[in-house]
Amino acid sequence: MGFFSSVSNFFFDCGILPWDVLLTLLNLVRRKRRIGHVTPEGHPGYGGHWPEFRPPQEGDSRCSCPALNAMANHGILPRSGRDISFVELNHHIRATYNFGPSFCSFVPHYAARMLKRNYNMDTFNLADLDLHNGIEHDASLFRLDTALEPDQSAKHIPFIEELLESATGKDEKGNDILTTKDLSRILGKRRAVARATNSEFSLSFFHKVFGSSNSSTLLTIFGGRVDDLRSIVLHERIPEGWESRIRQPYGLTMTNFNKTVLTVELGVREKDWEEVAQDAARSRVTPV
Ligand code: HEM
Ligand SMILES: [Mg+2]
Repeated sequence: MGFFSSVSNFFFDCGILPWDVLLTLLNLVRRKRRIGHVTPEGHPGYGGHWPEFRPPQEGDSRCSCPALNAMANHGILPRSGRDISFVELNHHIRATYNFGPSFCSFVPHYAARMLKRNYNMDTFNLADLDLHNGIEHDASLFRLDTALEPDQSAKHIPFIEELLESATGKDEKGNDILTTKDLSRILGKRRAVARATNSEFSLSFFHKVFGSSNSSTLLTIFGGRVDDLRSIVLHERIPEGWESRIRQPYGLTMTNFNKTVLTVELGVREKDWEEVAQDAARSRVTPV
C-alpha cells in the first residue's frame, strides 16, 4: 500500500486546488439553490426534516467536533459513532452542510492520513479524531484543552455560553449574529488564557489556522445565527427546519472559505488578553 498510496496522495494534493478554483468559478455563473431546497432531495434533512435526534448512549463514540457529533445524533452517520467510512463521511458532510466537494474530499483524506488508514477501504470511530495535535488542538472554542479534559467529546458549557453571549451582530429581524470580529476576539482570549493556565499548552501556526477554520464554519455554514448555534454546539442537534446558509450549487469552496478564515485569523489579538490570562493563571481555577 505504501508506494501506491503515496502516488495517489501526490495526485490528489496536486489536483485539489485547481478543482477548487474551478468549482469557485462555476459557483459564480450557476444559480444559487432556492431557500428551502439547499439540502438535496433524497438526503436526510431535505425540506428541513431531520431524522430523529437521540443523544448518545453509553458506549457510543463522540468527538471534539460538534458538527460530526450532531450528524451521529441524528443517525446521518452511524448513531454509535463507530465504523464510519471516510468515503461515507465525505458524501454526508457535503449533503448536510453544503461544503464544496473539494473540501469534503480533502478533510476526510487528511483525517485518514493522520490516522494512518486507507481512505477508500478503512473506517474510524469519531473519538479517533481527537488525536491531540492531529486536527484536534489546544485553545478550542468549546472544549477544555486535552491536558485538562482528556475526553474531548465533553463540552465546556461556560465556553459555549460565553461565545454565544458575545455576539455583536443583528440580522434584519433583530436576531443575534456572530461576526468575524466576535470570533477573532474569543479566539484571542482562548489562546491567551490556555497558554497561561495549561502547562502542556502548544499551538503551532498550523493549528491556529485549524482553529480559525473551525470558527469560520460558524460564520459561513451556520451564518453566525446564535439561535441555530445554541442547538448545534450546546446540544449537538440540528434544529428542525434548518438548512445550510451556503446556497451556491457547488457548496462552500476552500477558496471562498479561506477568505473568512484569513479575516478571522488576522484579527486575533492574543496580547489584548494578557492581563485576563495572568489573572486566570493566578486564581488557578478552570478558565472561563
Ligand atoms: C471531515 C470532516 C471533519 C473532521 C474530520 C472534523 C474534525 C474536527 C476536530 C478534530 C475538531 C477539534 C478541533 C479542536 O481541537 O478545536 C473539530 C472542531 C470543530 N469542527 Fe469539525 N470536522 C469535520 C467537519 C466539520 C464540519 C463540516 C463543520 C461545520 C459544518 C465542523 C465544525 C467544527 C467546529 C465549529 C469545531 C470547533 C470546536 C471547538 O473549537 O471547540 N467540522 N472538527
Ligand atoms: Mg481542542
